Amino acid sequence: MRAVVLTTYGGPEQLEVADLPEPAVPDPDGVLIRTAAAAVNPVDLQTRAGLHSAHGAFHPPMVLGWDLAGTVIEVGDRVTGLGVGDRVVAMSAQMATGRGTYAETVALPSGIVAPAPVSVPLTAAAGLPLAGLTAWQALDALALPEGATLLVTGAVGSVGGLAVQLARLRGLTVVAHVRSVEDIELARALGAARVVVGEDASALPAGAVDGLLETAGLPRAVAAVRDGGRVVSVVPTRVPEAERGVQVAVSYVEQDGEGLAALGALVDRGELELRSAKELGFEEAGEAHRLLEAGGVRGKLLLLP
Ligand SMILES: NC(=O)c1ccc[n+]([C@@H]2O[C@H](COP(=O)([O-])OP(=O)(O)OC[C@H]3O[C@@H](n4cnc5c(N)ncnc54)[C@H](OP(=O)(O)O)[C@@H]3O)[C@@H](O)[C@H]2O)c1
Repeated sequence: MRAVVLTTYGGPEQLEVADLPEPAVPDPDGVLIRTAAAAVNPVDLQTRAGLHSAHGAFHPPMVLGWDLAGTVIEVGDRVTGLGVGDRVVAMSAQMATGRGTYAETVALPSGIVAPAPVSVPLTAAAGLPLAGLTAWQALDALALPEGATLLVTGAVGSVGGLAVQLARLRGLTVVAHVRSVEDIELARALGAARVVVGEDASALPAGAVDGLLETAGLPRAVAAVRDGGRVVSVVPTRVPEAERGVQVAVSYVEQDGEGLAALGALVDRGELELRSAKELGFEEAGEAHRLLEAGGVRGKLLLLP
């Protein structure tokens, strides 16, 4: 099967398409999935550059990718609830498990696989798993009561854009922080009651919100949280310092098939919008990484076999 592989840590030029052996027939609890699309995420860029090399041994050729949408082509003996031909999505914690999704065929444990939303193209559904679960789990960690005010930084990014929508669904009032005035309209369309613009956190109102979901690597945004409020960051390298009784936590996304199914249902109810920026072929994986690295991408970059 064809896959995008990495044999040496480095720049986008290190990504190349190679022929790898088909994954083995799944174990009793596994499924084999024919890939429709794999979405590109910042973690893929970080892994490619070697920034996560301390988290596991490098066994080249390494297949990158956490996000997957595709069709089940084989199921293990003990699998229930999934069958051949089902359209599915999954988030595979590639860094920990080595199971990358930039491949024509991917074998995964059935527990992390969920039905794909049917109201969007299957390729677009690949943009849901990692960003959606990250936003959902970070909001769970914040545990703000209905009616509370939440600041979301990076509010038109992948995680931020879904977090704004999900926070609204939880009855929170969302203040969105975006980089440029061109992002204001999008942030409002996603459900932000108020939009703050700026390159850093200085334009944010001091002490004005109950909570902060930090996705842009802007630790100083903590100043916008009221005394005793809550912060959850998903950027472990730039975590705000606790001050004024503000509780600060880092959220690391976890694989969760059930949570993913719930997110897919929100998409099909028209309550959660997925945004796709561009579809590229596996041969263009390096270009996709360059685009994401350059910033300014609005919507997911999708790699198609
Ligand atoms: N902890 C976890 O489990 C977990 C899971 C998923 C993601 N993450 C991390 O979360 C972060 C966001 O991921 P993502 O997929 O949402 O990335 P993304 O789609 O690139 O979104 C990031 C957003 O932040 C904005 N931004 C960056 N710097 C900014 C600044 N100085 N001022 C204003 N806006 C700024 C970006 O704007 P531009 O496009 O204009 O730069 C973009 O809209 C990444 O660091 C990723 O590694 C962590």
